[in-house]
Amino acid sequence: MAYENLIQEVKENILYVTINREKALNALNKTTLAELADVISFAGKTDEIRGVILTGAGEKAFVAGADIKEFADYAGKQGEDLAKRGHESVFNAIENSSKPFIAAINGFALGGGLELAMACHMRIASHHAKLGLPEVTLGLIPGYGGTQRLTQLVGKGKAIELITTANMVTAEVAERIGLVNYVVPQADLISKAEEILNVIKQRAPLAVSSAIKAVIAAVNNTNGYETEINEFSKCFDTQDFKEGVTAFIEKRKPLFKGE
Ligand code: CAA
Repeated sequence: MAYENLIQEVKENILYVTINREKALNALNKTTLAELADVISFAGKTDEIRGVILTGAGEKAFVAGADIKEFADYAGKQGEDLAKRGHESVFNAIENSSKPFIAAINGFALGGGLELAMACHMRIASHHAKLGLPEVTLGLIPGYGGTQRLTQLVGKGKAIELITTANMVTAEVAERIGLVNYVVPQADLISKAEEILNVIKQRAPLAVSSAIKAVIAAVNNTNGYETEINEFSKCFDTQDFKEGVTAFIEKRKPLFKGE
């Protein structure tokens, strides 16, 4: 499908999504969010796709936030609608996707941009990336899940410091505090994400989805242990489980079909 603000391509079972509003530092306007919602849903229901790499166009910004110009004259109710719609259709939809999402952070990841990266299951940053939640400089707070996901990733003290000061951190600091998984040169950003997804592609697809679901239940405090038991038991009823165990016994590589 052709989008106005996204470039997307499926190659070797990986969906590559590039947010393509380089002149506005890839800021998330309504159209971009609607297109992201569409592509996330497409990824979820397309068996061929085993993982998603999300990045921004150019080398300056991953995403510099929600589009400030679009909400400049909003009042409370419109702010509430903006946040709710975003949470449901994009940010929670990524986190709850059955496919692993990796954010490849190629520059500024600010406000809604860092929130988008944090909604992904993993984050890789290039050396020059800068990350932060600067909403209080606008008289706002993060509205796309940032107060929750930053706290989950880096803990209460650091999250409150970063949100209330609005200070940005370098990629190296982000890695040290657990905000990103890896920091790599810009030229290696996509290949590092591919390296991770290429390993995941060899694993049992339904088990991978179950694992993501159980971990997300842990961070969101939604009956994590119960979710783990349910997902663990579901795995026993899959063909992939039978294939995995048979392959182990026969000392060969498993051939998973996601069934
Ligand atoms: N929304 C709309 N436009 C944006 C934008 C944003 N978040 N960020 C950058 N742009 C636009 C600029 O307005 C500018 O456009 P024009 O050329 O038409 O003036 C263009 O992108 C280039 O930006 P700058 O000239 O500002 O570039 P710079 O190199 O001087 O600065 C920057 C880069 C530090 C990232 C700076 O652009 C900046 O601070 N951007 C805003 C960051 C921000 O506050 N993000 C949070 C948004 S609020 C939010 O996300 C709420 C939420 O949680 C839901």
